[in-house]
Amino acid sequence: MNIIDLRSDTVTRPSPEMRQAIFKARVGDDVFGDDPSVRELEDYVADLFERQASLFVPSGTMGNQICLNVHSRPGWELLCDRESHIVNYEAAGPAVHSNLLVNLLTTERGMISAQTIRDNIRPINLHCPRTRLVSLENSHNRHGGTILPQEEIKKVRQVCDEFGLILHLDGARIWNVHVASNVSLPELTHPFDSVSVCLSKGLGAPVGSMILGTRDFIEKCRRVRKLFGGGMRQAGIIAAAGLYAVKNNIDRMADDHAHARLLAKGLNELDLFDVDISRVQTNIVVADIKRDYTADSILAKMKEIGVWAVPFGPRRIRMVTHLDVTRAECEEALVRINRIFS
Ligand SMILES: Cc1ncc(COP(=O)(O)O)c(C=O)c1O
Repeated sequence: MNIIDLRSDTVTRPSPEMRQAIFKARVGDDVFGDDPSVRELEDYVADLFERQASLFVPSGTMGNQICLNVHSRPGWELLCDRESHIVNYEAAGPAVHSNLLVNLLTTERGMISAQTIRDNIRPINLHCPRTRLVSLENSHNRHGGTILPQEEIKKVRQVCDEFGLILHLDGARIWNVHVASNVSLPELTHPFDSVSVCLSKGLGAPVGSMILGTRDFIEKCRRVRKLFGGGMRQAGIIAAAGLYAVKNNIDRMADDHAHARLLAKGLNELDLFDVDISRVQTNIVVADIKRDYTADSILAKMKEIGVWAVPFGPRRIRMVTHLDVTRAECEEALVRINRIFS
């Protein structure tokens, strides 16, 4: 029985073409700054987003944490959606690496509105922490791959300008937003002072993320990357895969989005799950469990039939579509789930 692995879009394996690109990669020592493939990737991605510069980093977590560190001073306050990746899955990085106080804001679908930001900026006085940073996540993982409204992001930018706040984007899956909304990558990311994007999710590269910003900002990030142990030597081996991914694997994400809708619709027909279809805007499906099962018991049964997903709460699971699952496999997953639970 083949395994249909819907745990995450990080589980993809390099395709034969990508492996060819890796095989042919020209490499050097990137800590000395002379790996030609890393240089090429950094220039290509900076151009793609119409930014001055970009930096190749080992992971999305490191990308976010470097940005927060470069932007901040100990004791500053970061405004963040309480469901964000930075808060839930980065091992308390803002507190540990940068001594940031995080104000966890509750949102409907991941968007912290301009008004909410305005309402949460603390007065400048002796007693209060300084509210200085805002981080958004687009698409929003824990909210189900939702797309943040671009018009509201522009308003957030205005509030940040008014109060001197720094605005960061965790754009791990910004590619999905671009494909689903047809808004260009520069337009989606222009309002942000810094952006972190992942190569190793829907794009299918084995390793790596990119930070984007001004030349000056990226030079500061380069130093913090070294501090965090993320300076890599012949990194062209993996940069070549990243370059292949950004050149070839963006547009095909439309398939992943169609597959996610198919899964969501199919799950809703099974009287076991409840999926809010209006949230299935990209490649993520979050399903609430209707009957007497827990996420763990359902996932254990699904594992037996070769359909893998992850828990997303005591009675909630997540499935993610990606370039290593076909439409036929999504249909097959639904058939298998139906067979054991009906
Ligand atoms: C929204 C978001 N940001 C950041 C990350 C971190 O990426 P990495 O696993 O490469 O550290 C992830 C990973 O799943 C993510 O979903």
